[in-house]
Amino acid sequence: SSGLLGIQERTLVAVKPDGVQRRLVGEIIHRFEQRGFQLIGMKLVQAPKEVLSEHYHDLQEKPFYPALINYMSSGPIVAMVWEGHNVVRMSRAMVGDTNPAEARPGTIRGDLCAHISRNAIHASDSFEVAKKEISLWFSDQELIEWQSCIHSNLY
Ligand code: PPS
Repeated sequence: SSGLLGIQERTLVAVKPDGVQRRLVGEIIHRFEQRGFQLIGMKLVQAPKEVLSEHYHDLQEKPFYPALINYMSSGPIVAMVWEGHNVVRMSRAMVGDTNPAEARPGTIRGDLCAHISRNAIHASDSFEVAKKEISLWFSDQELIEWQSCIHSNLY
């Protein structure tokens, strides 16, 4: 979609199992809503192993890979697609450094997380990766076209 701000970008955000278990879903959604982004897809899912191995395909050789897959399979996650101007870069800034020890206060990880292996949230790290991740986790029918919804202009 396009509008005053130009072409709208999309990104994949996921609240990881520790974030769901710690009841951080509302807080995280609140931050994205307050920033002005538009929620266009959301689901609570037990992530299938095949989806996780595709999602983390580039990390297969990392020493932490098996632990990462186990962690991501340890409970449901909340997968979301957010839309807005510069949403990929701005989401990464809101999420903060991968390692919560380096994440600045004010960021999601800087405020809410303590360890890299339980860092509560994922956000796509580039426009190209976001496209791939969105199509991995969501079908086209699961994403909302707000322009065609009459309620979108009410508030
Ligand atoms: S790397 O090595 O540069 O590719 O790592 P990075 O881009 O910072 O992180 C890639 C994802 O791996 C997760 N990660 C870890 N998980 C568990 N344990 C350790 N030690 C660890 N290090 C990195 C990190 O959270 C990234 O996952 P996402 O889902 O993108 O946050």
